[in-house]
Amino acid sequence: MRKPSIIQTRRKHSILKIMTTSQTSPLLLPKYLQEDDLSEECKKLLSVLPKEKGWIESNLYKYQGFWIESRILQGVISCQQQFQAQDSDIILVTNPKSGTTWLKSLLFALINRKKYPIFEQNHPLLVKNPHDLVPSLEFRLYADGHDPNLSSSTSPRLLSTHLPFTSLPNFVQDSRTKLVYLCRNPRDTFISMWHFANNLRLHHKDTTTIEEMFDFFCEGVVPFGPFWNHVLDYWKQSIEKPNKVLFLMYEEIKVQPKLQLKRLAEFLKCPFSIEEENQGVVDQILRMCSFENLSNLEVNKNGKSSSIGIEYKVFFRKGEIGDWKNYFTKEMSAKLNHIIEQKLEGSGLRFLYI
Ligand code: A3P
Repeated sequence: MRKPSIIQTRRKHSILKIMTTSQTSPLLLPKYLQEDDLSEECKKLLSVLPKEKGWIESNLYKYQGFWIESRILQGVISCQQQFQAQDSDIILVTNPKSGTTWLKSLLFALINRKKYPIFEQNHPLLVKNPHDLVPSLEFRLYADGHDPNLSSSTSPRLLSTHLPFTSLPNFVQDSRTKLVYLCRNPRDTFISMWHFANNLRLHHKDTTTIEEMFDFFCEGVVPFGPFWNHVLDYWKQSIEKPNKVLFLMYEEIKVQPKLQLKRLAEFLKCPFSIEEENQGVVDQILRMCSFENLSNLEVNKNGKSSSIGIEYKVFFRKGEIGDWKNYFTKEMSAKLNHIIEQKLEGSGLRFLYI
């Protein structure tokens, strides 16, 4: 008989802990993690997919080579079947916890800067959360399995997804739709996920430890993971099709915000004019979308997303580079270094400023 892996053994223990310490009501889980109310098509598919215990108290299923929660799978299937890309669409793609919220705000402010002058009273970013302004295809628009009818949305449509490149709806790959990919170093991404999961778990008493979650991460069992496949596929696309895919890094935006914002504007064919630069528009956008500004807005302190059932404040924690150093043991660090070296070998991709 095959010896159980560390993950299987640990997972068995954590499942036992959950069963004995908490009989959690699924109603307490955020809406996007609840497993009831799924379409028959989705239930049928789930019954044949490989399954693992998820990071929070729902399961992860392996679909088209990546791991995903059941409710989100329903949104994925629906958007793969129904989403019609337009050449003018701009889609932001990220691994979860890579700075999606930040880039959504930068993207929205940049594209709409003529319509909504920066810091103008009632600027949408001052009263709404970025996830409501740049909606996710699978978490929001197609989440309930219906076609949201996006044909009347104003152009360009700003959308987002966590989908791996090979699972994007066909039309996205074939059209002139622009993809903006944001990558973050895996150490901080993991720590950010750990905190995010803990926030959602607060009410559920799941006792999964950081070491257990780290093993899941290293083995690729993470929403939309393996992390490496996700990043490397978009990295390769950005080299092969530089006019279609822009590859940005969280750390580079932190270190060189002006340069990276201007790069984004040029890629999207809306570069800053000399007048705008002289008027300080680039700095204003960066200031309005800064962690300090966004995280202190009323909507982000006390608001909650009705579509996924999560308080907006959980999307704002520290917003820093290198917080992993406060959590990683020497062993974790060595293990991840080894994996990074192996996975990135020959790709030309490097994680900077860690
Ligand atoms: P930390 O947990 O490391 O603080 P996502 O939006 O993909 O869920 O990623 C969340 C991460 O982005 C969190 O990282 C969060 O604090 C950080 N973040 C959110 N808004 C930010 C901003 N305006 N500037 C920099 N980082 C931000």
